[in-house]
Amino acid sequence: MNLIQGTLQTRQLGREITYYPFTDSTNEDLWQLLDKGAAVTGQVVVTDNQRSGRGRKGRRWFCAPNLGLPFSVLLCPDLSIDRLGLLSLAMGVAVIDALAADGIESRLKWPNDILVDRRKLGGILAESRPSDEGLVVVMGVGLNVNEQLEDFPDQLRPTAVSVHMVLGKPLPRELLLTRILNRFEQLLESNLAGVIALWHARCAHLGQLVRWHSPEGLVEGRFLGVNEAGEGEIDSGDQIRVVTAGDLDWKPERFIIA
Ligand code: BTN
Repeated sequence: MNLIQGTLQTRQLGREITYYPFTDSTNEDLWQLLDKGAAVTGQVVVTDNQRSGRGRKGRRWFCAPNLGLPFSVLLCPDLSIDRLGLLSLAMGVAVIDALAADGIESRLKWPNDILVDRRKLGGILAESRPSDEGLVVVMGVGLNVNEQLEDFPDQLRPTAVSVHMVLGKPLPRELLLTRILNRFEQLLESNLAGVIALWHARCAHLGQLVRWHSPEGLVEGRFLGVNEAGEGEIDSGDQIRVVTAGDLDWKPERFIIA
């Protein structure tokens, strides 16, 4: 905790930090604190052991005890609902930049995966609810930090990676957390100006051939980038498809696009 306070340069984010040795989900913790009237804007919940982390699309998020970094931030953004998607993009940019400060070159995969060489180092889950004062957002981030390959369950080993695996040495998780919060607040204070360009510059598959798997079916085409609402845009040849919920992969060598 001292390390956090020492390197934190924010005005609001992380000025209130709630630490739990273990918990089910830091996102859920923040919602519960909010319901009790015990949460403030910018509050962070962080844990050493998240037992039932929530991932995108109702999936579970695995987090190795005392090795990963699961945390959530409470935001009450002065943003219209149609720009809300930009918040997750900004968090993605903040994570990439914080990792870069430690010498890790990572990239973003739409909508919010943090990748190193196509392996997943982290993910972001933004949840929002309306309130009398506007929208409330809980921005949850899960990062693999000090795990070795054997710390991941069998099914994740082919696709997971951690900071330790990339750097060959462990990294204090508090330091990474403070760097992310510092950078994220900078982006928020700029009112998310330029966040789309920053996201594009860090995207792993901008301009590449992608496949988008969604409940409505498969979209194949060239990934054009994200729009002002933070949605993805894919040029499928005959039209520009705007994509939201779903999963993207890009293995151009296997795709045949007319
Ligand atoms: C994804 O599916 O890629 C997003 C994973 C987000 C996981 C984080 S860990 C901290 C926060 N608390 C949760 O329950 N989920 C998010």
